[in-house]
Amino acid sequence: MMSGFEEMWKEEQERINKALNDFLVMKRNAAHYLGPVHDFYYDNLREYVMRGGKRLRPLAVVTAYKAVAGEPKTEFLYRASCSFEILHNGSLLHDDLIDHDETRRNGPTFHALYRDWLKEKAEAGQEKADDFGMTMAILGGDSLINLGAETITTSQLSGDVAAKCHTYFQQGFSEIVEGVLLEMNMVLSDNVSSETYLEMVRLKTAALFEKALLMGAAMANANESQLEAFSEFGVKIGQAFQMQDDILGSFGDEEETGKSASGDIREGKRTMLLIKALELANPEQKQVLTDLVGKEDMTDEEVEKVRDVFRESGALKSTEKIMNKLLEEGQDALRKAKPPLKSQYLDFMLNLSRFLTSRAF
Ligand code: IPE
Ligand code: IPE
Ligand code: MG
Repeated sequence: MMSGFEEMWKEEQERINKALNDFLVMKRNAAHYLGPVHDFYYDNLREYVMRGGKRLRPLAVVTAYKAVAGEPKTEFLYRASCSFEILHNGSLLHDDLIDHDETRRNGPTFHALYRDWLKEKAEAGQEKADDFGMTMAILGGDSLINLGAETITTSQLSGDVAAKCHTYFQQGFSEIVEGVLLEMNMVLSDNVSSETYLEMVRLKTAALFEKALLMGAAMANANESQLEAFSEFGVKIGQAFQMQDDILGSFGDEEETGKSASGDIREGKRTMLLIKALELANPEQKQVLTDLVGKEDMTDEEVEKVRDVFRESGALKSTEKIMNKLLEEGQDALRKAKPPLKSQYLDFMLNLSRFLTSRAF
């Protein structure tokens, strides 16, 4: 039997998915007059967005709204909540290109899809196909980021509420870019601190959770105390969420996560696991890390050796500890809103934050 939490999540997810799909179908129909290339492009974008995804960011918009205002009076709450999901998908499309990943949500990444399509369709050579895949992923990500903003514009919100929503959207997007830039530079450094990592993931990942919550709260006319509570909650659970993503990025079940469980190690990503392992490792373990992490063409055995160091040095445990502390601090912050948030939705958000750090997908 489903718990109250699961039932509510499923119900909201269905509403969000419907709003997402309706909007993307509308965009496809609007471009249909341009011919089959455009049909194919919008079909591919819609398939990428709709093939999976937990919908955590629109869920944050909707539940923050309801936690302040109760049942929605805004007809377009769900449409506007899609803004952050579509922006997130645009950033994933580009992220997969940057990270050289082939699989997302158990399907091909956008650049892989178009690369293979050109190979088959035009019998193109590898270089030409790679280049085409890259071009299409840049374009696809651009489209989605812009379409995200368009869901706010077309939600018939009052002028000042729409302006606030756009501001949060733009801030969230800027912060993703700043975080990714920080991360790309971190890969060049052998000496990254946990503090730098936490700042990087605050920007790359947590900002979008924070801004999604703030957008929902602003649509419901939340006061300063409530906005502050959402902000601290969003940042802390967003950082914790990324740490669980790092754990799944090295120890996850690929069928469940729908993405690689060796990519972070192969790319040499400065995850909390690696930072803690470098801090805690004995000389022998440290040698394994310096020799292997980020090495070209790593074998599966070499990836497993790095995983062993993550486990045996205590890095995995230490990452889990930091993650759980952030979760608790975030939850405490949310309970401090005055007037308090509506209990049904407060409970939902507390449960959701616990899921973020214990999830297997
Ligand atoms: C993955 O986000 C990318 C990160 C910011 C870590 P999600 O785990 O929310 O991805 P989907 O949308 O559910 O696929
Ligand atoms: C998250 O990056 C995506 C962005 C915020 C741009 P990651 O590289 O950590 O996420 P996954 O593991 O590919 O989903
Ligand atoms: Mg990635």
